[in-house]
Amino acid sequence: MSFPIHRPRRLRHNKVIRNMVRETLLTPNDFIYPMFVTFGKGVRKKISSMPGCAQLSVDEAVKDAQHAYKLGIPAIILFGIPEHKDEKGTEAYNAKGIVQKAIKAIKDKVPDLVVITDVCMCEYMSHGHCGVIKSGKILNDPTLELLAKEALSHAKAGVDMVAPSDMMDGRIMAIRDILDGNGFEDIPIMSYAAKYASAFYSPFREAAESTPAFGDRRSYQMDPANRREAMKEVALDIEEGADIVMVKPALSYMDIISDVKDSFDVPVAAYNVSGEYSMVKAAAKLGWIDEMKVVMEILTSLKRAGADIILTYHAVDAARELNK
Ligand code: PBG
Repeated sequence: MSFPIHRPRRLRHNKVIRNMVRETLLTPNDFIYPMFVTFGKGVRKKISSMPGCAQLSVDEAVKDAQHAYKLGIPAIILFGIPEHKDEKGTEAYNAKGIVQKAIKAIKDKVPDLVVITDVCMCEYMSHGHCGVIKSGKILNDPTLELLAKEALSHAKAGVDMVAPSDMMDGRIMAIRDILDGNGFEDIPIMSYAAKYASAFYSPFREAAESTPAFGDRRSYQMDPANRREAMKEVALDIEEGADIVMVKPALSYMDIISDVKDSFDVPVAAYNVSGEYSMVKAAAKLGWIDEMKVVMEILTSLKRAGADIILTYHAVDAARELNK
């Protein structure tokens, strides 16, 4: 017999009891804060489609990294906006490139902050695709060499972890090989393992200036209709040496987060992407939602779904709120 013996409301009676039985606790330690670095000095160029985010020159990025660290956020992930783009994405693996400079400057000033880099070619290619192009096709294997070079140059600059986001086949192994071959066997790889071809990335592409000049990313990123395929992608990346696997985007993909968490014994990251962020910001601006409450609900839900780590542009605001 259920009611009147069972009354679940007994455990919701007051705040103290609710806190005692709460299953999911969100803390600033759960977050990775994404940052966009660009050339110049004293630059803080607002990104109109992502209110609260900006492209930062290295000196400004150091300040924001310090601020994030003080709030208890353990890690940031860097995206670079180079001064020049070309067909080979040269700036991606230039030892004096923008990300390489940012890594050094941030590690110098905030040594205990974990600095992660997004490893991908799209921000550095004149055509905005994540790989090498020949006759209108995005080539897989020739791209691996560039990604490996990019990861190695980040390692040489002092990065703590690399995060390949390109979705080429075999890239985890290619990166693991080159890192190990150069004495960087202790640098972990966080793989964007189940990354979908999503319309939720469009504000990011304005932020990172990486919109493809033609076509879309559906020949390399996953079809949003597929669930089982995510298991295959994750299994392959773990086999190739991924230490952390990521599901991206997050909100429309909580089933995937949950599946990955249940099936694999490695930490799971979820990327609360730009479009998810901007929708919250827009609705809040219109007065339709309470921004901080919605942010907390979203981030808690991602953790409840199985995310051990959450990449989110809300990280700084959420950490401030959690520290209150
Ligand atoms: C680069 C990359 C993208 C994002 C992270 N790394 C864009 C893309 O694949 O088009 C998206 C992040 C976001 O939307 O917040 N490949």
